[in-house]
Amino acid sequence: MSTRAEASANPLAQIDWDYVEFYVGNAKQAAHYYMSAFGFEQVAYAGPETGVRDRASYVLEQNKLRFVLTASLVPDDTVSRHVALHGDGVKDVAILVEDVRSAFEAAVAGGARVVEAPAEVSDAAGRIVKATIATYGDTVHTFVQRDAYRGIFMPGYVEERKTLATQKPGLQFIDHCVGNVGWGEMDPWGDFYARVFGFSQLVSFDDKDISTEYTALRSKVMTDPRHRVKFPINEPAPGKKKSQIEEYLDFYRGAGVQHIAIRTDDIAETIRSLRANGVEFLDTPDSYYDMLEGRVGRIDEATEMLRDLRILVDRDDQGYMLQIFTKPLQDRPTVFFEIIQRKGSLSFGKGNFKALFVSIEREQEKRGTL
Ligand code: FE2
Repeated sequence: MSTRAEASANPLAQIDWDYVEFYVGNAKQAAHYYMSAFGFEQVAYAGPETGVRDRASYVLEQNKLRFVLTASLVPDDTVSRHVALHGDGVKDVAILVEDVRSAFEAAVAGGARVVEAPAEVSDAAGRIVKATIATYGDTVHTFVQRDAYRGIFMPGYVEERKTLATQKPGLQFIDHCVGNVGWGEMDPWGDFYARVFGFSQLVSFDDKDISTEYTALRSKVMTDPRHRVKFPINEPAPGKKKSQIEEYLDFYRGAGVQHIAIRTDDIAETIRSLRANGVEFLDTPDSYYDMLEGRVGRIDEATEMLRDLRILVDRDDQGYMLQIFTKPLQDRPTVFFEIIQRKGSLSFGKGNFKALFVSIEREQEKRGTL
């Protein structure tokens, strides 16, 4: 347990999600997809029209979620090289902190590799302090300090609002953001978040928990003292066939963000809206719902509704949670979303891993990569 004194001694104790930036091949079209399919609103833009010569970025928001979609306008810069190697993917999981300089110093003292030292950027709306450190693969964390800024997002961006006529799914905020790392790298990256962020381990699963007949993975969850920011880290484990984590590592060409879990207060309405907007989800074997009440006991939701929408349920000693996973968000089978509603449970759906993996393996089989 952490005390108030420990929390104030750690400059990364009072943190929250700020934004997630995707590097993509065509940010204009990607923005349209996240707006039309997932109900985001565009709030800001940066590009040639605003004085940025080499890239275009669209800032999308929904409740407390903020995504930035960035594409390069030139053949050979950090954005275009990232997209060439990894395909569309998450570059930056940015973290809101109270004091960037002290957060950065603590991170570097913990062994973080520096990408960009603390710098101030300002415009008429005020001043932002930011700094960037490296994490697994080519992924980074930018620390953002906003206490002296009243603008829409950040200096360099102009407010430009667009909403599409589409079902609004009521997505609320990020619950957790999962990284896939290579064989034997889960523990070193778990240690990284302990040293660099002062995080502690919430829970771990080994390959006995998370395996099917064919494939397996190991996972541990690192979190801040207030449990706002949770980073599960997965590594592949040996199985008869290729682990879904290995498939990700092959297609992404290394470690990276596997999924972003997004909270909702009403998963049935959320999934109905997302399905109406054309979002595709992983399917779940019908037998899962025949066994559901026996596995999780009585819950508020009707089994038939859950079966219709293919929503998964898991229970722990605190309560239960409902979750469902989208198919990959781009052509490569890499990053995807999880939609999650918690009813007391703090878990990550351990009891669903097996049901989920059977389903993922069916998709892998179709791609010929099992
Ligand atoms: Fe998850």
